[in-house]
Amino acid sequence: VGAEDDFNKIWPAVAALTVSPRHRCWALYQAAVKCGAAGAVAEIGVYRGGTLMLLAAALPCRQVFGFDTFMGMPDNTPDVDQHKAGDFGWTNVYAVKRSLVEYSNVRLRPGLFPVSAQGIDGPFAFVHFDGDLYKTCKDTIEFFWPRLTPGGVMVFDDYRWPQCPGVEKAIIEAGLKVSLLPDGEYQAVAVKE
Ligand SMILES: C[S@@+](CC[C@H](N)C(=O)[O-])C[C@H]1O[C@@H](n2cnc3c(N)ncnc32)[C@H](O)[C@@H]1O
Repeated sequence: VGAEDDFNKIWPAVAALTVSPRHRCWALYQAAVKCGAAGAVAEIGVYRGGTLMLLAAALPCRQVFGFDTFMGMPDNTPDVDQHKAGDFGWTNVYAVKRSLVEYSNVRLRPGLFPVSAQGIDGPFAFVHFDGDLYKTCKDTIEFFWPRLTPGGVMVFDDYRWPQCPGVEKAIIEAGLKVSLLPDGEYQAVAVKE
């Protein structure tokens, strides 16, 4: 009940900044709150900052890194991705910084991931992939999975969502064992042993 009250308090602010529906955000929030692993938090695919705000609120004592170009999608992988370069361009890093100013644990990393992750070593406890594209998902697994501490969690948005087939493809190719996130919708979760 405590977690639901906390979620309800921040939901209006999150809702104004996310394309994710309420039930997916609630599932993500619950997974983050109960993550007991040591380490930092990362989100790949921030756009206007809604789900990043959720993570920063759920895990206030961790550094929360947010990766995005903040200029729209990079080039896609033809024949796999349905999203196109420039999609989600209606954002900018200054506006997102301003929206998240109360969350001093947030660290925005503008630029093309994974280049934008250079110099960040982790370790990580919780990673939220919301980058839609095949190559971004593949790079996210390659970068973060080895840097995840035992009990660490990766949540993949848009798993089996028809418009983002690259997410499941990258997960399968990496041999990652995933299950569906409790209470979630098109969200997969992998837990590091
Ligand atoms: C669906 S949006 C994120 C939605 C956001 N989490 C929310 O709460 O509304 C996907 C984002 O991923 C970003 N993205 C995808 N691949 C990327 C990459 N390789 N580097 C940086 N940003 C990337 C796009 O720029 C886009 O803003």
